[in-house]
Amino acid sequence: MSSELGRICQVETRRWLWLIGLVFAFVLMAQYVELPYGNIISSVLPDGRTQVSEKSSPLPANLSSDTSKSGNTADLDNLNSTRTPLSNVQTDTAKSNEVKNLTQESDSSLVSNSASDNPSLTTKPEDNVVLTQENEILGDIPMSPSSASPVMSPTGVNLTTSAVISSGPSISPVSNEAQEKVHNTDGPGTSESINNSSVKKRPKSQEVPVLSVSEMNDMLKKIRASSSSTVPRWSSAVDQRLLDAKSQIESAPINKNDQGLYSPLYRNASMFRRSYELMEQTLKVYIYKEGKKPIFHHPPPVLAGIYASEGWFMKLLQENKQYVTKNPKEAHLFYLPFSSRTLEEALYVPDSHSRTNLIKYLDKYLDLIVAKYPFWNRTGGTDHFFVACHDWAPAETRIRFNNCIKALCNADIKEGFRLGKDVSLPETMVRSKKNPLRDLGGNAPRQRPILAFFAGQMHGYLRPLLLQQWQDKDPDIKIFKKLPKSKKNRVYTEYMKSSKYCLCPKGYEVNSPRVVEAIYFECVPVIISDNFVPPFFEILNWESFAVFIQEKDLPNLKNILLSISDRRYQILQQRVKQVQQHFLWHSQPIKYDIFHMILHSVWYNRVFQG
Ligand SMILES: *[C@@H]1O[C@H](CO)[C@@H](O)[C@H](O)[C@H]1NC(C)=O
Ligand SMILES: *[C@@H]1O[C@H](CO)[C@@H](O)[C@H](O)[C@H]1NC(C)=O
Ligand SMILES: *[C@@H]1O[C@H](CO)[C@@H](O)[C@H](O)[C@H]1NC(C)=O
Ligand SMILES: *[C@@H]1O[C@H](CO)[C@@H](O)[C@H](O)[C@H]1NC(C)=O
Ligand SMILES: *[C@@H]1O[C@H](CO)[C@@H](O)[C@H](O)[C@H]1NC(C)=O
Ligand SMILES: *[C@@H]1O[C@H](CO)[C@@H](O)[C@H](O)[C@H]1NC(C)=O
Ligand SMILES: *[C@@H]1O[C@H](CO)[C@@H](O)[C@H](O)[C@H]1NC(C)=O
Ligand SMILES: *[C@@H]1O[C@H](CO)[C@@H](O)[C@H](O)[C@H]1NC(C)=O
Repeated sequence: MSSELGRICQVETRRWLWLIGLVFAFVLMAQYVELPYGNIISSVLPDGRTQVSEKSSPLPANLSSDTSKSGNTADLDNLNSTRTPLSNVQTDTAKSNEVKNLTQESDSSLVSNSASDNPSLTTKPEDNVVLTQENEILGDIPMSPSSASPVMSPTGVNLTTSAVISSGPSISPVSNEAQEKVHNTDGPGTSESINNSSVKKRPKSQEVPVLSVSEMNDMLKKIRASSSSTVPRWSSAVDQRLLDAKSQIESAPINKNDQGLYSPLYRNASMFRRSYELMEQTLKVYIYKEGKKPIFHHPPPVLAGIYASEGWFMKLLQENKQYVTKNPKEAHLFYLPFSSRTLEEALYVPDSHSRTNLIKYLDKYLDLIVAKYPFWNRTGGTDHFFVACHDWAPAETRIRFNNCIKALCNADIKEGFRLGKDVSLPETMVRSKKNPLRDLGGNAPRQRPILAFFAGQMHGYLRPLLLQQWQDKDPDIKIFKKLPKSKKNRVYTEYMKSSKYCLCPKGYEVNSPRVVEAIYFECVPVIISDNFVPPFFEILNWESFAVFIQEKDLPNLKNILLSISDRRYQILQQRVKQVQQHFLWHSQPIKYDIFHMILHSVWYNRVFQG
């Protein structure tokens, strides 16, 4: 009996590994070829074209797809734009200006709107959701495999019956039929657009299998286990130090009482604590002096608004005495200090639908660095990093910067984000640069009468669906487009503080400032964004404090949330409060805050490179 069981298990395990391997290979291949998945797929599938949408064209900077993305970013108001990738671009620029202007005024209600909108700016459409329930069950186990197992989302499944699908990792062939069906499913939300819109609606998402969070967890473990270190062209004193750090982290003493670190929040609190300590003792970062303002070295334009993360990080690192070194020979990391947001503002030609000049600008900078210093060549750039929050950053850095450690808000597996190498940068909406912690906190669980809340622009394909399926359908679920302006965004804030769950559906891109906003207001985040790698993924055990729902499970939203017991909810909410410290900006950075967490994740991925 048992041996038979064992054999079955083995077979299952093998099948599972095989699937993961397949996905991984696919991702690698896509990255290697440097094609947008959409293209790959379309080339593989006879008719795939239809589906290739805006996003899918992260290609050269030229086309509509790029535009559309950008549009997403900037576009605050344009519902239509969702469906019109090309037109979006222009809008974007205009809007982006708007956003930026708003951003600069720290308080204005405008900002608040944009904030809520922002999320939408980033998002992309994708299909599958994580199983919340699993999370629930496993939630208390530190490394719970729950919600976001990287399931290859069944692209081809009947989405109509989406509820059914949610389960396991299954690879379904992407068939045109299936895709069409999918579209139809969307249809209700976006019905008007069906004819032409098919192109725009669900960009890549359907074409590529969805990786659930738990699948990402497995992938990350595999990557760590098989880490084939890149050997530097010549050795340097820092190499041995990094190897030492690695082995010390791997043999971290288990400390029940991890100095204020609440262990369920982490993949491994002991390793994190040790790694953080070693960072404090060891890490030296060299900041290249080259590069002209304002694109380089100039954080002020991005200290508020939705792109604030890159500006704050740049500012705080530049001011830092502990980690920054003037001697590049002792550096473990090399920082390329540009702002992806300022780059767009400075160089993007409205209506050009082209990012080519932006890419060239960055490439030229890198050429300079490569020619002038030996450091890039020593490691092929693997010890260099940048921190970029703009939607376009992945596309802008896809080729020349490919080896760098990329800290990206737009952390999308499908856009080439590499687990274990790149860092998911939290997108933070900073409303007041003087007081980034304004309005922090929220109501106790019992004073949260609303089950689920969302308000924002209708970016991407998913939000219109959300609206269509849930607006005014149920008194417990509050779904809005953009809320009317209110002083200091008070209405929006009140909703966040009075809701049990705050929905974070993707917009045009996978990321959304709502994830951090929810944590900020102590509301349990519900991430509905397939293939989004949540912030600090290498460190945090996201499934222990957040809920992941695959996009296709949207119709089940309420059931999924209701299936989470009160008791479990309270645990989740408590943990959200515990994890909050890692997402807060301080003008003077403090231990374990967001600045240090970003730096730590870059450090951690560097240490585990080799
Ligand atoms: C953009 O595409 C057009 C035609 O599709 C082409 O003529 C032009 O050279 C491209 N521009 C860039 C910068 O690639
Ligand atoms: C956008 O949609 C609104 C109604 O939803 C319509 O009045 C407006 O003309 C549309 N704009 C564009 C550019 O299609
Ligand atoms: C934003 O501000 C800049 C100058 O700061 C101004 O030139 C531009 O017109 C403003 N954009 C909008 C949309 O107000
Ligand atoms: C999809 O659902 C329809 C009706 O529910 C069924 O006839 C069809 O076979 C299903 N297709 C797939 C691929 O499951
Ligand atoms: C969309 O397609 C339907 C039939 O497929 C057609 O009747 C309708 O006119 C089309 N709408 C647009 C806007 O092309
Ligand atoms: C749909 O696409 C066709 C050609 O691709 C175009 O002529 C038509 O105007 C589009 N319809 C809408 C509503 O955009
Ligand atoms: C955490 O890492 C340490 C050191 O590698 C290991 O001994 C311990 O078992 C790990 N704990 C968990 C819960 O995985
Ligand atoms: C680094 O390598 C590139 C290409 O091989 C070369 O052109 C460049 O001069 C090298 N940099 C230095 C500082 O030697």
